[in-house]
Order: sequence, then structure tokens, then C-alpha cells
Amino acid sequence: MDISYILNELGEDREQYYNAVAPPIIQTSNFKFNTVDDFRGALADEYQGNLYSRGFNPTIDILRKKLAALDGAEDALVFGSGIAAVTIPVLALLKTGDEVICVENPYSWTIKLFKDLLPKYGITTTFINGCNLNEYKNAITSKTKLIYLESPNTFSFDVQDLASVADIAKANGILTMIDNSYCTPLYQQPIAYGIDLVAQSATKYLGGHSDLMGGVVTGKRALLEKIFNNEYMNIGASMAPQNAWLLLRGLRTLPIRMEKISENAEKVIAYLESHPKVAQVLHPFSERNADLALAKKQMKKCGGLFSIVLAAADLNEIETFCNVLKHFIMAVSWGGYESLVFPACAAISKADFDRNNKRHVLIRIYIGLEEPDYIIKDLEQALSKI
Ligand SMILES: Cc1ncc(COP(=O)(O)O)c(C=O)c1O
Repeated sequence: MDISYILNELGEDREQYYNAVAPPIIQTSNFKFNTVDDFRGALADEYQGNLYSRGFNPTIDILRKKLAALDGAEDALVFGSGIAAVTIPVLALLKTGDEVICVENPYSWTIKLFKDLLPKYGITTTFINGCNLNEYKNAITSKTKLIYLESPNTFSFDVQDLASVADIAKANGILTMIDNSYCTPLYQQPIAYGIDLVAQSATKYLGGHSDLMGGVVTGKRALLEKIFNNEYMNIGASMAPQNAWLLLRGLRTLPIRMEKISENAEKVIAYLESHPKVAQVLHPFSERNADLALAKKQMKKCGGLFSIVLAAADLNEIETFCNVLKHFIMAVSWGGYESLVFPACAAISKADFDRNNKRHVLIRIYIGLEEPDYIIKDLEQALSKI
């Protein structure tokens, strides 16, 4: 499907709402029925229509159609946050005694899900580095039901071979799921590689303005229907119609934002790579990435997120560099219009910081829509202070 059609027309039926160009926010909790028969039909199969907005809603429906089409998927479910789009499908598809294989450095709350939450339900997880296919083959047991990927992850940008992992999983009757928030469907299409479920934090690029929380999972309708009729409806982490509307607005400009952000980030990366006070810039398309060929095969571009390691990577230097930046906002998240900085050392106590630990010394940088020269000048003055 043409991306312009998806973003401008798909799912929109303007005659239904006074020929308004922008879709309405259907701000209602419930929907009325004229006959008991109609009501009975809706209650019997909530996946087919609008009954109650914890399930579906017309504003949400427009968004679901567009998000499914962007991923080349049969259907999409949207959630109140990205982590709900990870947690709810996983809970819905696993049961006591099942095992999961998960890559070792996914998003922090995803680690928590597999390490702390699932064991409460008797579901265990084997964490693997994920870069070597033999690791998957060795970790599979007769109880393995899910392989969970995050490629690239969003601090060290490790990539996994999506097509090969999907093949291994299929040969063993195992489901695959990926967090594709880093790439969005514009830069990586996991379903085309055979992955079953694709989750994204819509809070990031899809929304694009740092003003909403949301999540999406796409895949085969039968799988999504199972998720919907169980944990989705029970946990109730659905998206509010107002947020769906903001997301629809964000989607209109997704391609041009991603394009500009990627272009800006490439310029900033080139500057940082040549700076003597920067020891390393980590991102999937870095010449130093051992999996560069795989990253280029699977992904179109990298967007605005990467990490750096300072040449003098002790705590004082890292803190000074981050504290004196003027135009970067120190904050979690990414994917908006604004450039951000997140030193990994902020997530650990000073006493635990180990300058020889590769993950402790990372400074994650997100480049937004500001002009690259403006951002580079800021980096220049911050680097001059260390
Ligand atoms: C890679 C990744 N996946 C999932 C999430 C969770 O998304 P949300 O914050 O929208 O719940 C995040 C949040 O930062 C993330 O970075």
C-alpha cells in the first residue's frame, strides 16, 4: 500500500462526519443499540464493532487501520502505553510452565516483565545476547513458546537477524515478537521477515511531539483477537480517543520528521566521530558495528538515537558534559521534536558506577528537529568544558 494513501486516506470516511477533513474525537465510553438482537450480537463478539471504548472506538479504528497497514500486518491493537503493548500480548499468549527466550538488553521495563513479573505466573525466561543464531538454537526447549527481540535496542543498538530467527522459531513452532520502536515501520518491516508480532511505543516517533503516551502491536488477526478477548479487555490499558487523535495527527508528518531527524543525526554523528574527546559513537550504521551488514540489510535508516562514549569516561567528565549542555534536555524517552541527553550513569548510584563497565559509560543522545549547526555548537561548548 502506498504510504501517502495510508497516512492521508486509509480508514477515513469523511462523509460519516460532516465532511470534516480532520477526523473527530469520538469521546464516548459506550455505544447505543436499537434492538436487543443488535445488542446481543455486539456483546457476543466485541472484536467486530463498537460496544464500549475499553475495547474499540471509531477514532481508535482509524488509527488501527493505518498502523496495521504501515507494518504490512492484518490488524493492529492500540494501548495506553508502549509497555502495555509489550506486556499484555506476552501475558495473553503464555501460560504457566511456558518458557521465553529474550535478548539480553531490551527496554528496562521489558526486562522487568521477563525477570520479575512472568516468574510470578510460573513462566521463565532465558536471556541470550542474540547476535549469534546458535544461541537461539541452544536455548530452545520443548517448553519454549516465545522468542522476544528488540532490534536495535535503544542504548547499545545491538541488532538481531530477524529473518533467520523467524525461520528458527517457525521450525520449532515458537512465536516471535519484536519491539520495533527504534525503527518504526518506515525503517524496518519485521513482518516481511516473518516475525509474528510487532510492538512499538507510539509515545516515541509515531506521536512525535512528546505530548502523548501510546503503544501498538500488529500481527495476524487471529493472534490479536486472542489478545483482545483476554488480557487486553481484562487489564484495560486501552488508548483514550483523544490520544488516538493526537497520534493520527502525528502520523501525518511521520515520514518528513523521520527524514529530517535522520539527516540531522547523521551530521551530528559525523561531527562527534571526528572529535578527539569522543572515543566512540554507537549506532547500528556505525562502521565499528560488527553487525553493520546485517543492520543495513534489515533497516533503511537509523533515525535520531545513538550513544557516545567520552574519551575520558569517568563519572565527573560524563556529568560535567551533560550538565553544561544548553539545548539538549536531560530526560528519558525520545522520538519527539527536541534533542535529549540521557547518561546511563543517571540510572545507577554513584557508588555502583564502574568506568570499565561498557554500559555504565554510555551517554545516549537523541537528535530532534533543531538545525544540526545549533546542536553541534552546543556539543562543542560542552566538550570544551571537559
Ligand atoms: C524501546 C522501548 N520500548 C518500549 C518502551 C515503553 O514505551 P512507553 O514509555 O510508551 O510505555 C520504551 C520507553 O521508553 C522504549 O524505549
